[in-house]
Amino acid sequence: MFPVYIIIVAAGSGSRFGSDIPKQFCLMGGRPVVMHTIDNLRRARPGAELILVISPSEEERWRTLCLEYGFESPRTVNGGKTRWESVKNGLSAIPADASPQSAVLIHDGARPLVDAATVSRVCGATINTDGAIPAVPVSDSLRRLDEDGVRSEPVDRAAFRAVQTPQGFTLWRLRQAYSLPYQESFTDDASVMAEAGFENITLVAGNPDNIKITNPRDILIAEAIMSADAEA
Ligand code: C5P
Repeated sequence: MFPVYIIIVAAGSGSRFGSDIPKQFCLMGGRPVVMHTIDNLRRARPGAELILVISPSEEERWRTLCLEYGFESPRTVNGGKTRWESVKNGLSAIPADASPQSAVLIHDGARPLVDAATVSRVCGATINTDGAIPAVPVSDSLRRLDEDGVRSEPVDRAAFRAVQTPQGFTLWRLRQAYSLPYQESFTDDASVMAEAGFENITLVAGNPDNIKITNPRDILIAEAIMSADAEA
């Protein structure tokens, strides 16, 4: 079996979240969000090497939190101004002599409820394709905006999927794609891969509970999901 690396991007400033502390360090069930993310990934894939990407300005906060909670941090790497740059920095922390066939999973630090079954589906579909990404059906009705951004028309929601992380790719493909210059349309890793011509991306089943913490209320939702899981 080829090695598995997991890059956790947690270097965002969380401007939409509206708190002084970036959302990945806010408390959820009494512990910082990103500690849940790391623990869930460690449980899901015990042999994987984790790389945590955080902003240099948050390094001291993170060290202090690790001491306070008796938490062993994975290796950390400096984040960049965009998610793309943060992933690129995480990627450069993978040893140059690592097997090109290694699987690299990239996960948002702000998705603390990542589960073992999703990680396993992504890993399983990564090796022989251009990449594997977890996706879930869309439950709201959808409308497409015209160019003026005012008029709109209905579209068939069954033809769409909402994309989550972790997204998995082989190391050589990922390195090739991340050597291309940055574009604003890069909202996730699959969009970077598509630009490099790696379009044979496999969609695997995601998990509706694998939410991305975006607004403060999402912490309450995530805590409710955690307690429901604990009682199940
Ligand atoms: O902003 P958004 O929630 O879409 O970010 C997704 C993930 O990417 C978050 O975990 C965030 O910390 C990370 N990120 C990063 N570096 C940036 C911007 C976002 O690591 N410059």
